[in-house]
Amino acid sequence: MSVYLTEYLYKMNKKITKICCIGAGYVGGPTMAVIAQKCPEIQVTVVDINEKRIAAWNDKDLNKLPVYEPGLDKVVEEARGRNLFFSTEVDRAIDEAEMIFISVNTPTKTYGKGKGMAADLKYIELCARQIARVAKDDKIVVEKSTLPVRTAQALKSILHNTGSTNGGVKFEILSNPEFLAEGTAIQDLHAPDRVLIGGESAEAIEALVAVYAHWVPKENILTTNLWSSELSKLTANAFLAQRVSSINALSELCEKTGADVNEVARAIGTDSRIGPKFLKASVGFGGSCFQKDILNLVYIAKSYGLHEVADYWEQVILMNDHQKRRFADNIVTTLYNTVSGKKIAFFGWAFKKDTNDTRESAAIYVADYLLNEQAEIVVYDPKVTEEQIYADLDYLNTRSEEENRRLVTVVNDPYQAADNAHAIAVLTEWDEFKTYDWDKIYNDMLRPSFVFDGRAVLDSEKLEGKGFEVYTIGVGAKGV
Ligand code: NAD
Ligand code: UGA
Repeated sequence: MSVYLTEYLYKMNKKITKICCIGAGYVGGPTMAVIAQKCPEIQVTVVDINEKRIAAWNDKDLNKLPVYEPGLDKVVEEARGRNLFFSTEVDRAIDEAEMIFISVNTPTKTYGKGKGMAADLKYIELCARQIARVAKDDKIVVEKSTLPVRTAQALKSILHNTGSTNGGVKFEILSNPEFLAEGTAIQDLHAPDRVLIGGESAEAIEALVAVYAHWVPKENILTTNLWSSELSKLTANAFLAQRVSSINALSELCEKTGADVNEVARAIGTDSRIGPKFLKASVGFGGSCFQKDILNLVYIAKSYGLHEVADYWEQVILMNDHQKRRFADNIVTTLYNTVSGKKIAFFGWAFKKDTNDTRESAAIYVADYLLNEQAEIVVYDPKVTEEQIYADLDYLNTRSEEENRRLVTVVNDPYQAADNAHAIAVLTEWDEFKTYDWDKIYNDMLRPSFVFDGRAVLDSEKLEGKGFEVYTIGVGAKGV
């Protein structure tokens, strides 16, 4: 079919009626649920090879959805069964859809060339080959996953070369990276700062713009070329992570000098050129993407021979590793240089509040460090399961699974976690931590009763008034 004829057909038929999304994870699930909610005339089918995950998305009990996000249950309740479907029938959904989102995972490679840095694109390639094999008519393929710049070139090559056997099927590729943050995903999807669409065919771009235009103002929908769109996603995450590492670097200096990092953040954040967001010092950023995407950026820069660029961005990761290590190290030093056999309560395990996601959470690495020092850890997190916590520790392969279960206990009650503990370490900024009966916690702890607030969420003066010894990240000890 000629290019002109295809373009003409898109124009005539650009209204999308069926969407398929491959990958029902933290991005695919919520993103498609919102598209279905806002576009009731479009049938949206989210498919995954993980049967357990799809069953959870279909569970009548909305508390059992595989992703915890405030407000997600309401959106799913509204659209599921109407025009939102979750299924393991990948081929069928591909066949029926005019537009296919690829929203599968793109983790850091754990083998071969680029091990520990490059993004592993095997799941993306598998999707492309499956689309090419199944498609019988023209498709718009949308990159929703975060991908290295120029991945669309590889997708194009696979689709065009392997798809041509299906009688000249035409594929248009768009890049439409997702900027939602976990914990605020529904808010972010309902009112995005911007939607970014990169592509080569104006008609394909217009078809996707028309989907988002159901609820996003047109001026917030940016269109670019493919490569700018792909690179903008990695850049956005690198800039965000860089701000966290910058304020965390300063948090250490604050502790030495008696400055308070929260006051410094407020002071600089009121400068409209700097802005107030992403200046919260912490025990270190976590999450599935910041580290992975910066490592990927570093790898790409290196592969073009841009070593200064690579070194610059790598420093953001090195600073983050340092922050996690020094938080753990400070616990050991403060507890008289030994935590062996001492009970330490962890408040929080998720990488941030309002999510059950623990990928790359700072808590995992702080725990690992303290376990190497033979501490006994009791974890309480309002949303993370015991199974997940053990899986996170086992994945590190630092010690045997039996040893992890012997040294780490997971409880459903924060007071039980703190009972008889030498110290409490706050690893996640869950709001509920502020509302606890801290008098009761103090009564049940050993003396001195230490609190290490890695998120600066607790009122340290109040706690000190009750008798606690409090260390807050980025705040120098009194009298420094
Ligand atoms: P995830 O691991 O939660 O979900 C990915 C899903 O894809 C899994 O359920 C997996 O079973 C499925 N999958 C893999 N290969 C498949 C195949 N061939 N066929 C069908 N299903 C397949 O990952 P996620 O957090 O949703 O992230 C997905 C992508 O979005 C990544 O590239 C990530 O960088 C990016 N992203 C994530 C976030 C976030 O907040 N998590 C935000 C923006 C962008
Ligand atoms: C981040 C980006 O914010 C999203 O725009 C992006 O889409 C997403 O990554 C992705 O590509 O996966 P997310 O990781 O879900 O979202 O959450 P963030 O709010 O960015 O927090 C990341 C980490 O940084 C958390 O551990 C958080 O506690 C930490 N953080 C964040 C700080 O320590 N201080 C801050 O000021 C902000």
